[in-house]
Amino acid sequence: MSNPLTDRRIVLGVSGSIAAYKAAEITSRLVQAGAEVDVALTRAATEFITPLTFRSLTAREPYVDMFRPHGEYGEAHVELARQADLMVIAPATASTMARLVNGLADDFVSLTALATQAPILIAPAMDSQMWEHEATRANRYTLEGRGVTLVGPVPGRLASGRIGSGRMAEPATIVDAIKVRLGQARGDLAARRIVVTAGGTREAIDPVRYVGNHSSGKMGYAIAEAARDRGAEVILITTAALPDPHGVRVVRVESALELQRAVEAECPQAKALVMAAAVADYRPSEAAEQKMKRADASELAVDLVENPDVIALVSGDFVKIAFAAETENLIENAIGKLERKGAQLIVANDVTATDAGFGTDTNRVTILDRDGGAEILPLMSKYEVAVRVLDRVAALLADQES
Ligand code: PMT
Repeated sequence: MSNPLTDRRIVLGVSGSIAAYKAAEITSRLVQAGAEVDVALTRAATEFITPLTFRSLTAREPYVDMFRPHGEYGEAHVELARQADLMVIAPATASTMARLVNGLADDFVSLTALATQAPILIAPAMDSQMWEHEATRANRYTLEGRGVTLVGPVPGRLASGRIGSGRMAEPATIVDAIKVRLGQARGDLAARRIVVTAGGTREAIDPVRYVGNHSSGKMGYAIAEAARDRGAEVILITTAALPDPHGVRVVRVESALELQRAVEAECPQAKALVMAAAVADYRPSEAAEQKMKRADASELAVDLVENPDVIALVSGDFVKIAFAAETENLIENAIGKLERKGAQLIVANDVTATDAGFGTDTNRVTILDRDGGAEILPLMSKYEVAVRVLDRVAALLADQES
């Protein structure tokens, strides 16, 4: 499945905070990603945002009044709770957290939370003094101890005008956290460590110049996010300056030697290594300590020495997936690398196309395996390419484990 939210049933509980307006964006993002979303609001939430907003976004009747029968359902909260794949409460106020801790069921949100067996994720939103109060702190620990996932709050400007911790996490982060939680609950890579590399290495010539390449990191980040969405514990070793994906441990490196050290350190417990990074095969033999000055000479030569072949050298009991960035003889060159790199699969990538390869949001690849198989994929988003590569990783791991 290319989108982890497709056909998933999510109950979104909204409680009474100024951050309630952001629940509309969460709803919209979930619906656009193919989830079936039912919204439950506390009475206090309806002071900040109307049920009509959610009815318009979901084409479903939101739940507010516990005593009003809801269409087809007899006991609406029981049906909602039973059918949910996940319940998210965003924003979750201090009182909603306290209600959950004490098992109260005096509004639609707390009632559904008490009745569901599905994982619960909450996005707290309140003033920093309320967030730091020992009652809220204790409630937070109790909820975490019961397996409730908290996302945020984050530091920033609060409704009171003060700056502090208590601001609800951004809708995009909350949606990512939902994907992570769903992946952990039922993803086919759940609890498996996957190491992913991304971006182009930078090999220093002096403190301000380097030998590099055009890799943006987008392909590697897409693999990291797609693996995370299937429940994997993901370590992303990257040279790219892209924002850290939620729920992924990020290790920043610059050169091929730094990348090699990080790969060697992170791989021992891994089930798979996916090398999407464009690693320089050569580096300047020496990096000047100071910025090199323009000389009188009209020519300047930089001596290069060979870098280690990171994927070929790292050893261990994990699946290795290489990428091959080619400008000619795509399949032939990639097959040669599959052998030399000791990989189980290689993703052949023609980097001369304008809509594929470096820097684009789309890619067109062929996945080659050791049995001579070639899976030719059409142009698709890098996330979709990642899903297809990970389908193969999941199958290899399943074979290994059977
Ligand atoms: O980052 P983007 O802008 O999204 O672009 C994506 C991409 C084009 C960089 C990506 O899809 C890709 O093709 N990555 C591999 C780039 C590359 O270095 O290819 P290569 O054919 O030179 O290397 C083959 C394999 O060996 C790669 O898995 C590489 O990570 C690995 N390698 C290479 C050299 C080296 N010294 N050590 C290595 O481990």
